Amino acid sequence: MGSHVAEGMVAAGHEVTGIDDLSGGFRRNLLPEVKFHRLDLRDAEETDRAVRDNPPEILCHLAANAREGASQFQPRDVCGRNLMAYVNVLVPAIRCGVKKVVLYSSMAVYGDQEAPFDEGMARRPADVYGVNKTAMEETTEILADVHEFSYTIIRPHNVFGERQSLQDKFRNVVGIFMNRIMRGEPLYVYGDGEQRRAFSYIGDSLPAFLKAAELKPELDRQRINVGGKRPITVNELAKLVSAEFGAEPEVVHLPARPREVKDAYCTWQKSEQMLAYKEQFGLEEGIRRMGEWARALGPQPWTDERLELPSEKAPRIWLPGRPGETDSKGEANEP
Ligand SMILES: NC(=O)c1ccc[n+]([C@@H]2O[C@H](COP(=O)([O-])OP(=O)(O)OC[C@H]3O[C@@H](n4cnc5c(N)ncnc54)[C@H](O)[C@@H]3O)[C@@H](O)[C@H]2O)c1
Repeated sequence: MGSHVAEGMVAAGHEVTGIDDLSGGFRRNLLPEVKFHRLDLRDAEETDRAVRDNPPEILCHLAANAREGASQFQPRDVCGRNLMAYVNVLVPAIRCGVKKVVLYSSMAVYGDQEAPFDEGMARRPADVYGVNKTAMEETTEILADVHEFSYTIIRPHNVFGERQSLQDKFRNVVGIFMNRIMRGEPLYVYGDGEQRRAFSYIGDSLPAFLKAAELKPELDRQRINVGGKRPITVNELAKLVSAEFGAEPEVVHLPARPREVKDAYCTWQKSEQMLAYKEQFGLEEGIRRMGEWARALGPQPWTDERLELPSEKAPRIWLPGRPGETDSKGEANEP
């Protein structure tokens, strides 16, 4: 998402500096027009220096470990790469007189309240990722009040599209399904697959993301959901992605992930009104476009990463070397 936002900001005439440690992002997504610093935002000193050397007028914060389902099994990494990384970049930005902050939060702040989630609902996160996003929102609100900068919080949900990682087995489901199909592997679905989500194509969300960065007084201090309008089940998504690839993969159901919210989708009226959100492409066309891009990229090896808290409660495909699964080199582990 960051590279799309950076590209849009360049096109809007901004001078853009990007910071990423490339832990989850890719060099191939970097743009020549963007001044780039490879930097881990958990390093406060280096972050101070980078921000001081490139003082931002507008700070768009997207860096994250956004693996919501895995956050119960990697809480240290998730807290470091969400709340801590954000505070580390926010502090020097405030010192440099930042005018506006756009915080990319998440619908995870709503937790397991009844969908559709509306901006008027209280924050009631149900997992470690959501707790971090909640703390990031609240920290923004408090510091903006004391240090007087403008902010807009946007809450995207289930974003998919070109440039997304296809190789992260912890997220996102559209990319995972595409990679599994290209690798000739089954699709794994957690629980009965009847959980509903409204998937959001990046091409539809991007114009709203860019509008959120405008220095308009009416956008100040707002929290706005941004993303797809039409909830579908994960089973339906599996069919749509399979059809795009002309494939009929085996679908394997695994136990539900701990603390996964059953139905999670949002209201969109505020985004239409304040950010002119509109579905120019929609779900099917978005999947077609991403499918075309994914096929050009080809099947990707899965990243091999250990959980901080490996547990029988984690999906078995997240644990390395588990029977019947494939390792990062694509070779089957023997039972
Ligand atoms: N994709 C979605 O469905 C979705 C939904 C809701 C919210 N969001 C939020 O939007 C933002 C972007 O999401 P995305 O899907 O593009 O995720 P992503 O993982 O593709 O991008 C996050 C980027 O942050 C970088 N990063 C991680 N830790 C870092 C650190 N310590 N220092 C510097 N860079 C670091 C990664 O390398 C990666 O490029 C995130 O904040 C995410 O929480 C995404």
